[in-house]
Amino acid sequence: IEQKMNADPSQPPMVHYWIPFIGSMITFGMQPMTFMRKYRAIYGDYFTFLMFGRKMTVCLGVDGNYFVFNARHSSVNAEDAYNHLTKPVFGEQVIYDVPNSVLMEQKKIGKAGLTIDAFKRYVPMIIEEVNMYVDEFMNKESDTIDILKAVSEMIIMTASRTLLGEEVRAQLHLGVADLYHTLDASFTPIHFLFEWLPLPSYYSCKEAHSELHGLFRSIIDNRRANNEKKYDDMLHVLMTSKYKNGEPLTDVQVANMLIAFLMAGQHTSSATTTWGLLMLANDHSLIDTTFAQMKEAMGEELPDVTYDDLKNIPMLEHIVNETLRIRSPIIQIMRKVTQPIPIPKTHYVVPAGHYLVASPSVSSTDPNYFPDPEAFSPLRWESSTVGQSASGGNDDTAGEVDYGFGSVSLKSARSPYLPFGAGRHRCIGEQFAYVQIRTILYTLLKKFDFELDPKVGLPKPDYNSMVILPTLPCLIKYKRRS
Ligand code: HEM
Repeated sequence: IEQKMNADPSQPPMVHYWIPFIGSMITFGMQPMTFMRKYRAIYGDYFTFLMFGRKMTVCLGVDGNYFVFNARHSSVNAEDAYNHLTKPVFGEQVIYDVPNSVLMEQKKIGKAGLTIDAFKRYVPMIIEEVNMYVDEFMNKESDTIDILKAVSEMIIMTASRTLLGEEVRAQLHLGVADLYHTLDASFTPIHFLFEWLPLPSYYSCKEAHSELHGLFRSIIDNRRANNEKKYDDMLHVLMTSKYKNGEPLTDVQVANMLIAFLMAGQHTSSATTTWGLLMLANDHSLIDTTFAQMKEAMGEELPDVTYDDLKNIPMLEHIVNETLRIRSPIIQIMRKVTQPIPIPKTHYVVPAGHYLVASPSVSSTDPNYFPDPEAFSPLRWESSTVGQSASGGNDDTAGEVDYGFGSVSLKSARSPYLPFGAGRHRCIGEQFAYVQIRTILYTLLKKFDFELDPKVGLPKPDYNSMVILPTLPCLIKYKRRS
């Protein structure tokens, strides 16, 4: 049954669909980037599509980014869009399960655990974890491995060691990593869409959450009972921080914030590191340039890198920037509209009940801002005055960047490049991710040369999860350097 589209001219145009209720779910779900680019060409930056009964209003371009990220909380919010998805994973009393003002305080407390001093301590821990992984699983002269699997394990180990503390790291091999994987399994579009469906993964996720939560609570109890030992990890920061009203975080909140931080960084950083290595393996000249720069900065012997050394190897940062530009792990950011909201510079009003969808990935692959946008060219960041990373500027210090065709601000939410979002929900883990990913890249490139498996080549993005990973099999051939 063909629906009558665009009945109300005060609303953004509706993408044509044939099957009621289901709407454009299949075409969007299979190729979301192609879908958004196609309908942008037809309707402009704002249009709505139906997806399993939900009206999704897509807001593209730098103005669309700004509109979604800066919308007033009284009209648009993230908690109504995400909480049903995140609560079984993160648990109660944290992130989207608290009023927005509490989330803002929780993020501020979390940020206090992600300082430069902490990063300086974390870099040697990350190196040690990568070396342990390599000694156990990448110990041949050359071999072909599933690089997504390898990197995901390294991210779990390095994040657990640095953020969650030594007790959790010590128990990783005792099944804790499996609990993370079970939690992950319910972070999928299907769980976003079918919130009422009793999916088996929903129940296993709740069980895994309560087991992990129990483990973290026992670690918290042990630390309290044995308060002579000094800790300097994120757990310690959370246990000792207070809200503005002087109240400490509850133990439930401490445990669940740890789970939330871990989950927020797991797939995103694994995807970025994996894509980065795949892109390098696909263009060996980039490995040569990076390796030469590593030697120039560190000397022929390539000793372990420190936090301060990282900024002397800008290629590592350019690789992360470029990977996030072309293969951002999060391609759709959602909000729910609670009060009708006008879209500036248009005659549209988005009604309450719609979801807003921002996609900075569309603007970061827009040829108007990034020439030859599909090319993986880390060196395009060389002339950039803006570092998104811990070693360069950050959102407080960023200025203007010139790509050679006019000047675009990367500072504000009206930017074509926002892989970490903007506004009140902006990522707090950006700097940690840059430190973690660059340290892993350095440590691996120092030991190995990489090339793609010729049978598989460069994998395509897999759009079946909330975080965009490479399609399996994701194979890479490593060769130990002499
Ligand atoms: C928020 C991306 C790593 C913790 C976000 C958002 C994006 C993002 C796009 C905004 C979501 C929205 O507006 O709805 C990334 C990427 C990462 C990464 C690309 C790695 C390459 C991390 C890490 C942590 C983390 C390592 C924790 C240590 C958070 C938190 C939020 C957030 C707490 C705030 C959620 C909110 O306020 O709604 N991240 N992230 N992220 N991220 Fe990250």
